[in-house]
Amino acid sequence: MADKKKRDFSPEPMGCLIGPNSNPNRPRVKCSMFELVPDAFDGKSLKIGEESPTKRRQNKAQNGKAEPEIAKEPTPPPQQETEEPLVAQNTVPQEARPWDNVDKSAQTRLLIKGGRIVNDDQSFDGDIYIEDGHIKQIGQNLVIPGGSRTIDAKGKLVIPGGIDPHVHFQFPFMGTVSADDFYSGTKAALAGGTTMIIDFVLEKSDSLLDSYEKWRGRADPKVCCDYGLHVGVTSWNENTPKEMEILTKDKGVNSFKMFLAYRDVFMLEDDELYQSFLTCKALGAVAQVHAENGKIIEQKQQEIVNMGILGPEGHELSRPEEVEVEATQRAITIANQSNCPLYVVHVMSKGAAAAVSSARRKGNIVFGEAIAAGLGTDGTHYYNKCWRHSAGHVLSPPLRPDPTTPGCLMDLLANNDLQVAATDHCVFNADQKALGKDDFRCIPNGVNGVEDRMSIVWEKGVQSGKMDPCRFVAVTSTNAAKIFNIYPQKGRIAVGSDADLVIWDPEKTRVISAKTHHSAVDFNIFEGMEVHGVPLVVISNGNVVLEDEQLRVTQGVGRFVPMNCWPEYVYGRVLGREKANRPCKVERDPYTGPVVEANIQPVSNAKTFTNPILPEPGSAAFYHNRPKTSSGGRNLHDSSFALSGAQYDDKSPKRPHTRVNNPPGGKSTGLW
Ligand code: URP
Ligand code: ZN
Ligand code: ZN
Repeated sequence: MADKKKRDFSPEPMGCLIGPNSNPNRPRVKCSMFELVPDAFDGKSLKIGEESPTKRRQNKAQNGKAEPEIAKEPTPPPQQETEEPLVAQNTVPQEARPWDNVDKSAQTRLLIKGGRIVNDDQSFDGDIYIEDGHIKQIGQNLVIPGGSRTIDAKGKLVIPGGIDPHVHFQFPFMGTVSADDFYSGTKAALAGGTTMIIDFVLEKSDSLLDSYEKWRGRADPKVCCDYGLHVGVTSWNENTPKEMEILTKDKGVNSFKMFLAYRDVFMLEDDELYQSFLTCKALGAVAQVHAENGKIIEQKQQEIVNMGILGPEGHELSRPEEVEVEATQRAITIANQSNCPLYVVHVMSKGAAAAVSSARRKGNIVFGEAIAAGLGTDGTHYYNKCWRHSAGHVLSPPLRPDPTTPGCLMDLLANNDLQVAATDHCVFNADQKALGKDDFRCIPNGVNGVEDRMSIVWEKGVQSGKMDPCRFVAVTSTNAAKIFNIYPQKGRIAVGSDADLVIWDPEKTRVISAKTHHSAVDFNIFEGMEVHGVPLVVISNGNVVLEDEQLRVTQGVGRFVPMNCWPEYVYGRVLGREKANRPCKVERDPYTGPVVEANIQPVSNAKTFTNPILPEPGSAAFYHNRPKTSSGGRNLHDSSFALSGAQYDDKSPKRPHTRVNNPPGGKSTGLW
C-alpha cells in the first residue's frame, strides 16, 4: 500500500515546521518559477525611505499623531531582485485616530447630492445627509447645517456599503498564515466598496472562548472597517454548547460554522452536527456548514496520488461535485431534523445549488451563499500548465471545470435560489502555495475576492442583464445584514442606519490585476478581467475613505459589530414549523395478547450526548427554552405549548376573569 502522505493542518506552525519566510534572513526572490504576474509585488512591499513604516512610526512619535494612510499608485519596479517578505504582518501598528488633521465638521457632516439611491426593494432619486457616522436625512431640498461638505452623485447610484460575510484574514491554516491581515484585508475590502466583513474564529482548540479572544486581539487594532465574527465549531464535547451560549449572550456572536470536511482538523461527525444544530436552534443562532464529504475526499486523494497525479488538478479530481452535493443534502437533512435554519457557505457547484434550491422549494429554511470566485471564474484553471496559476485557484470546495457553472450560480442568485454573494477571501502568496508544490494535498486552500466581489457581481449579474440594481444590493449587502441580524443598521440606506455608503458608477470600467489591487497577495484569480461597475466614493461610518481613486484608511478605526441571535429573517418561520411538525403520540389500549419468546434485548448504539443547554428532549421545557425578551415578555419564537399539554404561562399566577363589556369592534349583545 502506498504511503499515506502526512499532512499538517496545524493552525500555528510548530517548531519543526518552517512556514514561508519564517526565516527573516531569507529574502524572497522575485521572478521565481511561481511568479506569474510581472510586477505583482510592486507597491506591496514595505516602503523604503520616507514612506517606510519605521519613518512613519518616527513621524508619529514626533508629531504625536497617526497619519491616515494614503494608498499610492504602484511605485516603479525596484532595481534589485530581492525584496522584503510579503507576510501578513507588513503593517504598521498605528493608533486608531482618523482625520486628525482636517476640519472635523466638514468630514462628519456630508451631503450626498443628486444620486439615485438603491435599496434592495426600491430605488429613487434623493439626497442623503450624514452626521456623526449615521444617516440623518434622506429626501429632496434637505435643510442641513452650514459647514457640511457636499459630494456630487449626479448620474450615479448610491448603494449601501457591501457586506462580505465570509473572509479569513490573518488565518493560521495548513501550516501558514493567510497573507491578508485585518489591515490589508479590510483596506482591500473598502477599496472595492465593501464596508463590513465577517471573519471566522477558526482553529482546533479546547476553548471557543479563548479562540474568540485571540481573534478579537488580532482584529481590533487593525481593522479599517466594521467587522463581525462567526465561530467555527471544530470539535464537540460537553463544554461546547455552554461556550456557544456564552458567545451568543455575552460576546456578540450569532453564527457558528460546522465542517463536514477537513477530517481530523475541523470535521464533525453527523451526530455531532445534529447536536450543534440543536444547540444553534435553542440559542437562535445561524448554523453554517462547509459541505463536502471529508472521509470520501481522503480516500479519493489517496487514489489520485496513487495514480501519480500530484499537481493542483488532483485537488479538484479528489473533491468532485458529487461529494459536495452529498454533503450539502446531508446537512440540509440534518438541519431539517433538528428544525434548525441552515446557511450553506461557498456553494460551488450546480448540484449543490440545486440541493439548496429544491430544499427551499419544499419549505426548508436554507440559505445559500455563492462566492465571487465561483461566480467569476471556473475550474478549467486547474488544468493550466503553469503550476502557480493552477495552485492559485485551489480552494475548497473547488471551482468546477464545467464552464457553465458560474453562469448557472448567477442565475440562481438572481432568482433568490441563492441569497448571498460573499468571497471566502483567504489568500496565500506563491511561496505559501508552494508548500504543496509536490503534493496538491499540501497546497493551502483559498483564493481572493474581497476587493473585486462587488465588481464581479455587477459585471456577471447586472451588466449581463440577469439582475437589477436592487437585487445587486440584496445579494451584496442587505441579505447578509438580514441573515446575520444587523439590518437595518447595515445593508440599507435609511434614516438612522450607519453611514456605510458607496457612490457607484455603473458605466465605468476597470481591469482587475494583482499589480494594482490593495490586497497583500501576489496573485489575482480575476487577472486581466475587465469589469463594469466601479466604486467612485466609499464612505465608512461617515468617513470618506475612497475618493478620486485615493484610498485613505486608518488602522483600528473599524468597530466590532455585535450580532444578536434570533434574526427574524431566519427564525421567523421556525415556531410555526415546530408546531406543525411536532411528533404526535397515539393514545391506544395496550396490547394484551401473547408475545413470542425471544433472546434479543432492545439495543441502541446511539451515542448519548450531554448537552447542558438543551432540556431533556420531549420535556415541556424542550418547547419553552427561549430567553425572555429584553422587556421581559415571552419570546415569540418560543412555542406556547408542549406535547404534555403544558402552557408557556403555567407557572404564572392565575388572573381573575375579566368581563369585557365593550370589546373592540362593538358589543355582540346590542341591537343593530
Ligand atoms: O479553501 C477555503 N475555502 N479556505 C478557507 C477555509 C474554508 O473552508 O472556508
Ligand atoms: Zn469552508
Ligand atoms: Zn471560508
